[in-house]
Amino acid sequence: MNNLKKQFLLDPDITFLNHGSYGSCPIPVFEEYQRWQRILEKQPVQFITDGMWDALKNSRIALSEFVGCDEGEILFFQNPTSAIANVIHSLRLNIGDEVLMTDHEYGAMIRAWNIWGKKNGVDIIQQKIPLPIHSEDDFLDAFWKGVTERTKVIFISQITSPTALIFPIKRIIDRANTQGIMTIVDGAHVPGHIDIDIHKLECDFFTGAIHKWLCGPKGSSFLYVKEVHHDWIKPVIYSWGKDGDDPGPSEFLQDFQWQGTRDMSSFLTIKRSIDFYLDHIHPLQKVCRQLNLEIFSGFESVLGTRPISDGGDWVGQMVSHPLPSNAPRNIKDILWNEYKIEIPIVEWQGNNYIRSSIQVYNNKKDIDVLMNALVSIL
Ligand SMILES: Cc1ncc(COP(=O)(O)O)c(C=O)c1O
Repeated sequence: MNNLKKQFLLDPDITFLNHGSYGSCPIPVFEEYQRWQRILEKQPVQFITDGMWDALKNSRIALSEFVGCDEGEILFFQNPTSAIANVIHSLRLNIGDEVLMTDHEYGAMIRAWNIWGKKNGVDIIQQKIPLPIHSEDDFLDAFWKGVTERTKVIFISQITSPTALIFPIKRIIDRANTQGIMTIVDGAHVPGHIDIDIHKLECDFFTGAIHKWLCGPKGSSFLYVKEVHHDWIKPVIYSWGKDGDDPGPSEFLQDFQWQGTRDMSSFLTIKRSIDFYLDHIHPLQKVCRQLNLEIFSGFESVLGTRPISDGGDWVGQMVSHPLPSNAPRNIKDILWNEYKIEIPIVEWQGNNYIRSSIQVYNNKKDIDVLMNALVSIL
């Protein structure tokens, strides 16, 4: 594990337990990213009007094979927020219709839905998933209580941000499919973290970040759009589309791929990210999960608060745990300023949580540093 840390650009003097926020890019992947940037700058016109399109297609092919869908169903975006914005703003729902989500969704996404819902008279419902969570049945029952005859769309995280839980969403999607409810999966934390097979999941839309657990350069994410929706999903930003240089093949792709001049190098690096992941990260994920479980039990004994799940299949390489009421309000600053530990503290439903991430560059020493710091602070 230790040797892999040298493959990352992270400052060796800090304890980095926050891969979940923005990921971290390994040196060979970062070099490939810069290689594309240099190719672009050598002859920008030639590259953008000609060479880039095949390279983008190769990226789509590599990613579609990795996530289990067709190449023509993949659109690249800089981040999940912009990917989902294009779905939200294409939806044509009626006044009084409902979009159902859990109360564990990512704050910026909730905000985006709420602003759009208010403007369009659509109710955005956040269904409470009570904690601690124990069984898949409890989860399904709690969520499904929010479904009414007005529910037209379900928006759900497969791995949640504030609570770092892996939600068993397949049964929700199956049930939604039988009732004609559209499903949009927020899989920002999924690629490179847990198994992914979008066609098997049978959702309508899926967004994932490449720069988080697949360790791509910042600004690489994607949106899967099931083929039946290609005729009505339209870009928020219109550019040349079919009148431009993009050979397509579909108008759907042409509409989305060129959104004005931008640096596509992060998209072109996706194949390299996947290869790095398969060679170096995937073989060590069991070890990472094991370390994460150590944090899971360490938090319980050091913080003295109850875990929010039974562990097991609910957690992957992240764990979120409630802070005790006596924790200093500036604990994040103390951890960073005094111990050089980067770890997020998130406020969720009126309580503060500490959320750790384990990636292949972490080791047992990082956990000890964190736990010792918490013992001293508390
Ligand atoms: C669950 C979830 N969804 C969406 C996002 C949005 O990511 P971005 O701000 O990069 O668009 C995040 C970011 O961490 C996330 O954790």
